[in-house]
Amino acid sequence: MSLAEHISSAMGQGSGPLYQKLQDALRRAIESQLLKPLDALPAERDLASDFGVSRITVRKALDGLVGEGLLTRRQGAGTFVADRVEKQFSKLTSFTEDMATRGRVARSVWLNRSEGGVTPDESLTLGLSPGSRVYRFGRIRYADDMPMALEYSTIPGFALPRIELVEASLYAALEAARNRPVRALQRLRAVLFDSEQAALLEIEPGAPGLFIERRGFAEDGRAIEVTHSWYRGDAYDFVAELNALA
Ligand code: GLP
Repeated sequence: MSLAEHISSAMGQGSGPLYQKLQDALRRAIESQLLKPLDALPAERDLASDFGVSRITVRKALDGLVGEGLLTRRQGAGTFVADRVEKQFSKLTSFTEDMATRGRVARSVWLNRSEGGVTPDESLTLGLSPGSRVYRFGRIRYADDMPMALEYSTIPGFALPRIELVEASLYAALEAARNRPVRALQRLRAVLFDSEQAALLEIEPGAPGLFIERRGFAEDGRAIEVTHSWYRGDAYDFVAELNALA
C-alpha cells in the first residue's frame, strides 16, 4: 500500500473536521515510521490533490503537526519529519558529547567570543567579585547541518588560561584546564522564538522552544559556568530517569 493510500484509509476511519483527520492520519504514519525522521513531505498542493481536500485543510493539518514538534519547516526547502535528538536529562554532558552519542557531528558558528568585566547579574550567579574577568561565548549549535540551539555561556577568567583554548567544545577546554563542571543546577521553561532567534535557527518566528539555564560547579565547589540555551522544540526530546523514594 502506498503512503497516500495508507493515509486516505486512515482518514476514512477518523472523526472530526477534515484537517483533524488528516493530522491524525499523518501523525500515525510518523509514529509507525511509514514516514521516517528527515523524510520530506510532498508539496501541499500534491497532498491536497492526493487526499481530495483543499490546500487550506492540508496547511492546517501540517501546522498542527509542526506545533506538536513532529514536522519542521525549512525555509525554501519544504516540510520534513522532525529528527529528534534524545537528551538524557540527568547526565552532565556537553552538547558535543550528546550529539556524538546520537551519531551526529556537533559544530558551532560563533556569534561572539569575548573577554570582559563581570556584569552585576553574572557576578551574583557565578559568585564573583565586581571587577573580575570573564569569558563570554555565543554560539549557534548544529547537529550535522541542522541548527539545534543558541547558547550563550559565561566562564570566570580563572577557569581557563586563555580564551582561544575554546574551539569546538567548551567542556573539552574546561576539562583540559581541570575545571570541567562536575555538578550543575539547571532550570528550564517553554519559550516562543522571536524573529531574530528564529532566523538564526532557520525556523518560523513564534515556533516553540526550550530555554535552559545551567549553572555548573567545579570539583572545589566554585561556579564555573552559566549558560543560557535556547533549544529548538522540534529537535530535542528531554529524557529523565526517575527513581521511587527508597
Ligand atoms: C550543553 C549545556 C551547556 C554547556 C555545553 C557545552 O549544551 N547545555 O551548558 O556549556 O553543553 O558543550 P560543548 O562542550 O560542546 O561546547
